[in-house]
Amino acid sequence: MKVYCSLFWGVSLVYCTCLSIIVYLRMASSQCLENPPSLDSTSGIGSVQEIGDLKAYVTGPQDSKLAILLIHDAFGYEAPKLRKLADKVAANGFLVVVPDFFYGDPLDPDYSEVDRQAWLKAHSMDKGCEDAKPVIAALRSKGVTSIGAAGFCWGGVVVVKLARSKDIQAGVVLHPGPITEDDINEVICPIAILGAEIDRFSPPEQLKHLGEILSTKSGVDSFVKIFPGVNHGWAVRYSDDDESAVKSAEESHEDMLNWFTKKLADKVAANGFLVVVPDFFYGDPLDLGIPNVDSPDWKSWLKVHGMDKGCEDAKPVISALRSKGVTSIGAAGFCWGGVVVVKLARSDDIQAGVVLHPGPITDDDINEVKRPIAILGAEIDNSSPPEKVKHFGEILSAKSGVDSFVKIYPGVSHGWSVRYSDDDESAVKSAEESHEDMLNWFTKCQVKEVFSKTSSRARPNIKPYKTRNSIGYTLHIWKLADKVSANGFLVVVPDFFYGDPYPYDLDDPKLDREAWRKAHGKDKGCEDAKTVISALRSKGVTSVGAAGFCWGGVVVVKLASSDYIQAGVVLHPGRITEDEINEVKCPISILGAEIDSASPPEQMKHFGEILSAKPGVDSFVKIFPGVNHGWSVRYDDDNESAVKSAEESHEDMLDWFTKYIK
Ligand SMILES: *[C@@H]1O[C@H](CO)[C@@H](O)[C@H](O)[C@H]1NC(C)=O
Repeated sequence: MKVYCSLFWGVSLVYCTCLSIIVYLRMASSQCLENPPSLDSTSGIGSVQEIGDLKAYVTGPQDSKLAILLIHDAFGYEAPKLRKLADKVAANGFLVVVPDFFYGDPLDPDYSEVDRQAWLKAHSMDKGCEDAKPVIAALRSKGVTSIGAAGFCWGGVVVVKLARSKDIQAGVVLHPGPITEDDINEVICPIAILGAEIDRFSPPEQLKHLGEILSTKSGVDSFVKIFPGVNHGWAVRYSDDDESAVKSAEESHEDMLNWFTKKLADKVAANGFLVVVPDFFYGDPLDLGIPNVDSPDWKSWLKVHGMDKGCEDAKPVISALRSKGVTSIGAAGFCWGGVVVVKLARSDDIQAGVVLHPGPITDDDINEVKRPIAILGAEIDNSSPPEKVKHFGEILSAKSGVDSFVKIYPGVSHGWSVRYSDDDESAVKSAEESHEDMLNWFTKCQVKEVFSKTSSRARPNIKPYKTRNSIGYTLHIWKLADKVSANGFLVVVPDFFYGDPYPYDLDDPKLDREAWRKAHGKDKGCEDAKTVISALRSKGVTSVGAAGFCWGGVVVVKLASSDYIQAGVVLHPGRITEDEINEVKCPISILGAEIDSASPPEQMKHFGEILSAKPGVDSFVKIFPGVNHGWSVRYDDDNESAVKSAEESHEDMLDWFTKYIK
């Protein structure tokens, strides 16, 4: 009889009689031996790397500020279900590391009782805890600011031990081995314990008791949940064929993820940014003795410390940050600093700005703003009165391609966001609300930055797209990308033309359309897209959709014949062949214009018939009445009906992706 789990029993009840051990082994054997993993060193979409002296399976965005350690059970880090879970966690934006705490020596199921004891001696949980520390240090040196740890059985005990220090910021313990009350008493970080109803190792009563100890500790968030009807090990050693087992395991994964998201992702806002507060005044802040802005002292101080100079001084700071590898920079400024932020937002120096109770801003400055900007003003403010702030908001919202946000805080005075009294509850609340708004803005704009960063080659070259017949702007694509990303997708708009878009001046006598077409073939586009998709997958993206317009529509159809994408949307496509349609393997939606000689409605409908005859391929065809080829991205902003049709196509696109990608 194989009895792996007895190893913990042997440790925790070393003083018990042989009889009780034997009784236990008989009971434990049936539950602990179910579904041992078939180890596979190549499983998972991540890679094995060396981190802090340990080999580790690593998956997820390498530049994430949030990392999760998954700590294996006795079967080690090559268990495919554990790696699959790691990939799942990684898809939620965490860098996930599964170290090999057993140095290539996981528990052999065929070990005798004696061998098991020797094995456990070599691989104690205290050693696991010590070995985790260099891994954590290595992650921190890479820029990770918050670390969670989840452990199973053996690993669950290690997590509790780690939770006694500041090494981790949140822990999740799943069907743990023997945890002592002493260990629990020393826990200082938020911890969730997920246990099985049928578990002799960590019986529900014991876990609940540990939960009670935790809940009496002040400042330590805790959570205990017993999963009904499942055995020890259910979270990672379930049978794929048992629907209810899979469901219980997945529920535990969700709980784990929610715990980490709640306990760590909050900190993204607080800790996820590198924050720099330069001394723009070179040690010479405004003397508090200066009575008011009309005094000569104030004027001479301001002459030395002008806001234009502040803007110039900020640039070397920004360059220094970029040279350190920072790709996305937001700037928030208060009063004097608010004016500096507006000046910075006129350039590509920053990716987003937040202006709080600003000093004197001119319409000209606002007119030149190129970057997303939020203006947070006070209701009672002589230097930036609400009407003026709202007026700036109107100017900004009329600018195409510049996101803006204006909010007036009621009942507060200029300076409220940083110069409030700690004793005034309502003042503190208003200040904190402005901090939240600021953080939300940066978080929102940072998401976008992923998108503009990926396309940074295209952005500086962007020119209005004009033809004789239609007026539109390439920026509509950027705007649409923002709209899709606001729905929770990471959106990437690659520059498939390497900075050489279709010549927009059709009257240019030197225009050589054939040469351009030859240089930018759709097959090449398809191959280039595959490289981008592979890069996304290596970052932990699990599901990819592609939408393409005209030229891009053809590329999407080509991609849809591969496993590279999981869903496609084709809008007013260029020339597609029946052969190409025949090879489509993934769900595809074709949105066409009624007035379109490049892709006439009858042809689109015919493609739809071919697709609907293919088993296993979901398809959808819709013809938009009264619109021309290009309507979904090259529309006139002033034409209400054109905007409506375009937006309807965007909605259809989003619905399709939500159905098949999310
Ligand atoms: C507005 O757009 C619609 C649809 O594209 C078009 O039929 C109509 O002529 C446009 N109206 C104007 C005034 O350009």
